[in-house]
Amino acid sequence: GNRTFTMIKPDAVENGHIGAILEKITAAGFKIVAMKYTQLSKRDAETFYAVHNERPFFGELVEFMTRGPIVAAILEKDNAVEDFRALIGATNPADAAEGTIRKLFASNVAENAVHGSDSDENAKIEGDFHFSGREVF
Ligand code: GTP
Ligand code: MG
Repeated sequence: GNRTFTMIKPDAVENGHIGAILEKITAAGFKIVAMKYTQLSKRDAETFYAVHNERPFFGELVEFMTRGPIVAAILEKDNAVEDFRALIGATNPADAAEGTIRKLFASNVAENAVHGSDSDENAKIEGDFHFSGREVF
């Protein structure tokens, strides 16, 4: 697929990294086809992360993702899902490769700066969750 979905998470927004992260994303060849500054409700976060609802950290994850604004975006590039996961690095920034967005901007495994879809199917579901057709260019 040629699209993925991302969020700049509340920690990275709080720490003033929106601009630097968008610069890394566009420099890596991703085109922004949809973007908004928004805040997830508790229900939004519970729905978005439903796949993790049995995990011990689910409550913490929902608290974190709802505590402040995020940037949500749909990105376009060949091989978007896989290339974007490579650009952001491992879930835990301690394990993330040098130069990746999480290595540069994330604090820890919970507050890890950015989200990236893990499959073409989820990229479509997640993009549709945040954007209507006329918000995608
Ligand atoms: P996303 O791109 O956000 O989906 O991250 P990921 O695919 O690299 O990781 P995963 O889907 O397994 O986990 C989703 C999110 O849950 C992570 O990005 C973290 O924000 C959070 N998370 C993962 N592991 C832990 C943990 O051990 N503790 C806490 N508090 N949060 C975690
Ligand atoms: Mg994930």
